[in-house]
Amino acid sequence: MPHLLHLDASARRRSFSREVSGAFADAWREADGTVTYRDLAADPVPQITEAWTEICDNLLADGIHDLDRLGEGARTPEQALAWRTIEPLLNELIAADVVLIGTPMYNYGVPASLKAWIDQVTFPRMSLAGRTLVVASARGGSYLPGAPKAAFDHQARYLRDFAAGHLAITDVTFLYAELANSVIDPHLSDLRPRHEASLAEALKEARDLGRELATRTTT
Ligand SMILES: Cc1cc2nc3c(=O)[nH]c(=O)nc-3n(C[C@H](O)[C@H](O)[C@H](O)COP(=O)(O)O)c2cc1C
Repeated sequence: MPHLLHLDASARRRSFSREVSGAFADAWREADGTVTYRDLAADPVPQITEAWTEICDNLLADGIHDLDRLGEGARTPEQALAWRTIEPLLNELIAADVVLIGTPMYNYGVPASLKAWIDQVTFPRMSLAGRTLVVASARGGSYLPGAPKAAFDHQARYLRDFAAGHLAITDVTFLYAELANSVIDPHLSDLRPRHEASLAEALKEARDLGRELATRTTT
């Protein structure tokens, strides 16, 4: 049965990225996929500690990168304690066929809550090749090709490079709900129809992709 790891990172409970990631997850469940859910905003993952960096250094020094051997990097009592935070997060990631991240754009990048999770679960030369990453991103402005601030989208660039460079995941799809600030900022109210169209399109794409990937993915 295909398995999904669904992460949300918006500080808002009512949020566009949660709405789009939720549409994907609902379609996935309807196609009989199973789901592990983690709310990184409501239940934050701690920042990495010095002991985490020591585990990482041990793995690097000893050339250990097999997923089932990463625990060998935890050697001192402090490192064993750090591993107790890492292990369940890592197991959730490894068990997933598809990783779904619902994230707002904060300051052209990802929220600190999502970055803390990334830092905890990422080790040198690990490979999750064959998995798929889907990112449901909400942003106040527009960053699609041709938009004046297209080059400011460090979030998509970062997540794509992180997935390929550190996880060996190259199958990455982004779903964008753009121009969310038009709902709040009176100066941007003219852009509201474009926001609504962007959200509707992202929701449709999320439902279609959730169904398609759950049907296609085999474990
Ligand atoms: C701390 C913070 C930083 C933000 N930075 C940006 C930004 O750099 N670019 C942008 O387009 N929108 C920015 N926004 C607007 C959010 O991306 C927008 O509200 C989006 O809808 C948030 O996603 P959510 O609806 O899932 O919470 C920011 C919002 C917050 C709260």
